[in-house]
Amino acid sequence: MRAGQGGVGLCGEGGAGPDQPVLITGTSSGIGLATALGAARAGWTTIATMRDTAKAEALLKAAADQGVADRIQVNRLDVVDAETIATCLDEVIAEHGRLDALVNNAGAGQVGTAELIELDDFRTAMEVNFFGVVALTRAALPHLRASQGRVITVTSVGGIVGQPFNEPYCAAKFAVEGFMESLAPVAAAVGVDVAVVEPAAVACEFVTSMSLDRPAMIAEAGPYAPALEAYFDRIQNVFVTAQSQAAAAAPIVEALTGDRPAFRIQTSERAREVVSTKLADLDGSAVQNLTRPWLTN
Ligand SMILES: NC(=O)c1ccc[n+]([C@@H]2O[C@H](COP(=O)([O-])OP(=O)(O)OC[C@H]3O[C@@H](n4cnc5c(N)ncnc54)[C@H](OP(=O)(O)O)[C@@H]3O)[C@@H](O)[C@H]2O)c1
Repeated sequence: MRAGQGGVGLCGEGGAGPDQPVLITGTSSGIGLATALGAARAGWTTIATMRDTAKAEALLKAAADQGVADRIQVNRLDVVDAETIATCLDEVIAEHGRLDALVNNAGAGQVGTAELIELDDFRTAMEVNFFGVVALTRAALPHLRASQGRVITVTSVGGIVGQPFNEPYCAAKFAVEGFMESLAPVAAAVGVDVAVVEPAAVACEFVTSMSLDRPAMIAEAGPYAPALEAYFDRIQNVFVTAQSQAAAAAPIVEALTGDRPAFRIQTSERAREVVSTKLADLDGSAVQNLTRPWLTN
């Protein structure tokens, strides 16, 4: 795919300025695609990665329509494949000489409950949503330290509030939140900002891409069938009023470009409402103010 030339950008205060490379995962659809477009519009040289680059057409067409095709470069990266992570980062550094930001966006949902799904389903959810984030973040950190860059990770309100029939997904997102909250003060000590972004329902292929066969799942749900049916009904309604992809992407791009972002960012009022049922520390600053001083004498 073509290499971005970068545009003459506005310079964000604090963090890196546009015209510099940001790597985004899972840009074939949804929030990742919208974030790639938003980053390119903001002037970033956008390394839009996806596990199957044959799916790049939608992104490239939208980029051309929006006049930002010259700022978007599509690279292959499967977050569960260490080789593609290493190859992609090597290519970015060889071509651009630096990496200023990473957006961990790729993720995959899964519907089920402990008794109805296999242990391997939990492992799969952890591989994509958690270990994929850990693997890429570890590999990117030396470059982000060099650029004094940022790691922005898309988690979910489901990374704070456990949601019924989302046990593997929420467990993985909780793990990502814990990983990033622990990493943030350590990364800050070496000049790298870390933030998590928590959307509520966003109108994406996230639900359809789970390839759910609702009647079959309910038929096989035994005593869980009525609860599962109610869950499916609710989800259908929730996604009718879901946030748009562009609206969910906007705070991610803002977190890349502006002043040092808050540790925790909700993308909508609905997301804040859900998360605040559990969190007193809505933007994560109280925890960061608690732990950052542990690393200074
Ligand atoms: N939509 C929502 O309501 C919602 C709410 C809260 C949080 N989120 C989070 O937002 C993020 C983006 O999801 P979305 O809503 O935009 O859904 P989406 O349209 O299904 O996008 C998910 C993206 O992740 C990619 N992906 C999946 N497995 C991957 C892997 N192993 N390596 C690299 N890429 C992989 C998908 O690629 P393929 O096209 O190849 O499958 C796709 O590009 C996820 O982290 C999700 O958990 C979504």
